[in-house]
Amino acid sequence: MNELDFSGKQVLVVGGSSGIGNGIAQAFRTRGARVAVCGTRAKAADYSPDDGSYLDGLQYAQLDVSDPTAVEKFKPSFDKLDILVLAQGAVIYRRGEFQMDGFRKVMEVNLMSLMACATKFHDMLAKAKGSLIIVSSTAAYHSTMGNPSYNASKTGAMGLTRTLGEAWAEDGIRVNGIAPGLVDTKMTKVTTANPKRLEGALERIPLRRLGTPEDMAGAALFLASPLSSYIVGQTIIVDGGLIL
Ligand SMILES: NC(=O)c1ccc[n+]([C@@H]2O[C@H](COP(=O)([O-])OP(=O)(O)OC[C@H]3O[C@@H](n4cnc5c(N)ncnc54)[C@H](OP(=O)(O)O)[C@@H]3O)[C@@H](O)[C@H]2O)c1
Repeated sequence: MNELDFSGKQVLVVGGSSGIGNGIAQAFRTRGARVAVCGTRAKAADYSPDDGSYLDGLQYAQLDVSDPTAVEKFKPSFDKLDILVLAQGAVIYRRGEFQMDGFRKVMEVNLMSLMACATKFHDMLAKAKGSLIIVSSTAAYHSTMGNPSYNASKTGAMGLTRTLGEAWAEDGIRVNGIAPGLVDTKMTKVTTANPKRLEGALERIPLRRLGTPEDMAGAALFLASPLSSYIVGQTIIVDGGLIL
């Protein structure tokens, strides 16, 4: 038996249009799953590999979760769901999260929408005895001085993961999470495209390299597979040792 063969499984990755979510989506696809992804843009053609978006072989649908009613209204293209990955995430730089509208916007995308998506797909996941995987961040383990909402939302995402893990275990849904360290995506270009900042960041990572979406996908495949059948409510840190 190959526990990492996802043939016949339906996967949805919210925030799968680029970066980490996209890497996770492609990893499931190459292991046999049918994979749908969502992002903010109107259509797949609006994305380019330059932004870390590889949509070949994935089914794309627009879903902007900053609108609190959008998840409710969303009509999925499938009627069974085995694995739901919630990788949507936003950050506002230049102290924008110290303004209440910025703080609320990031909360809505990074935390409120997790609950909206999780509850929307609860019944499908229960029917499939499926898995829910929530992408939080190592920011849940320490302060991030310029980004209060990002920090609070990611800490909340970790709390939500363990609570839904406990609550939904009896429904047959395994809920777990991934806390990435510093991964090279469009979200982190502010650090990675600045040679001085990049050098400083690499010095703090014991593995001396940035994480890749594929590194994150390894943990997601594991958490969705029978290899992790007795793991519930945990958030696995995948950070090259950054917060050690
Ligand atoms: N990169 C890192 O170092 C790092 C570290 C820790 C945690 N994370 C987390 O990992 C997740 C993925 O981030 P990433 O680094 O891969 O960045 P990314 O490439 O910018 O991906 C973010 C994803 O979230 C989607 N998204 C953003 N706002 C949305 C909204 N309002 N509605 C629906 N989808 C929305 C994006 O859609 P579009 O493509 O349409 O913008 C994209 O698919 C996020 O939760 C992030 O917080 C990242």
